[in-house]
Amino acid sequence: MMKFAEPVTIQEDEHEFAYLKSLIKKRMGFNCDDYKQPHLKRRLAVRLRATQSRSYKEYAGILMKDENEPPRLKETLTINVTEFFRNPETYEAFRREALPLLVKAREGTKIIKAWSAGCSNGEELCSIAIMLLEFLGASARKYNIQLLGTDIDDESLEKAKSGIYQPKILEKMSKERLDRFFIYKDACYQVKDEIRGRVNFKRHDMISDPPLRGFDIIFCRNVTIYFDQKLQEKLYLNFYNALNDNGFFVMGKTESLVGPADGLFKPVDPRERIYQKGRKL
Ligand SMILES: C[S@@+](CC[C@H](N)C(=O)[O-])C[C@H]1O[C@@H](n2cnc3c(N)ncnc32)[C@H](O)[C@@H]1O
Repeated sequence: MMKFAEPVTIQEDEHEFAYLKSLIKKRMGFNCDDYKQPHLKRRLAVRLRATQSRSYKEYAGILMKDENEPPRLKETLTINVTEFFRNPETYEAFRREALPLLVKAREGTKIIKAWSAGCSNGEELCSIAIMLLEFLGASARKYNIQLLGTDIDDESLEKAKSGIYQPKILEKMSKERLDRFFIYKDACYQVKDEIRGRVNFKRHDMISDPPLRGFDIIFCRNVTIYFDQKLQEKLYLNFYNALNDNGFFVMGKTESLVGPADGLFKPVDPRERIYQKGRKL
């Protein structure tokens, strides 16, 4: 008969917790201080249970000794769940309410720059690319479309750069889109050059790296939900400043604008969390 390991009871000691956080920062360069602490404890508990550790101190010992543990912990902390056209109604609203205004405003320069901040494996940035190319149609070739995806998870960035996705990930994609934007090879789908030539993925930590600038569209979805309110307020202001005039900001459906940025952004579709840089009406 198969035997299961007894679930361990974790002793939570605040000093040990503080020590573990400093170790994570030193060993992995991952600053947990700005994460919501109950969330952080829940994520750490996943690894403590997996390693049968009874305390933060015991787990700290494993993190020091076992070279496989830091990448596992990082994967648990960053949670890179994503999908193509996550919440399709948000993309539909963006296409309907934001893109006509943006394309009109960029008729002169014909440059459109978009940023997926916390892009995970790249599905979000590809969805933005598909949405833009479909909207622009034949005139897309007259536009200089520059799309940037950033994340702190190197493994996710590598996957994003490859542009290769398992068929299961693309299950919900229409056949028309699959045929137009992907090539089927070696039992996987790869994003075609029409998109690959316009996207760029790089490591950028939105908490500690210098803020980026000059975008017309920013999607930062399902990332700030894990951060405490003070940090959220700072990041939303950074995103406001990172947008060109009349640019658009899109958040996750369970996230809310807080802090000074709430008074600066103009709501375009609050239900879909679509905002524009400009004065409130
Ligand atoms: C749940 S995924 C969201 C992916 C995508 N935006 C979406 O909504 O489908 C969160 C991503 O944010 C990334 N992330 C977490 N902290 C970050 C930070 N400080 N800077 C940049 N990316 C971060 C994680 O590595 C992860 O890939």
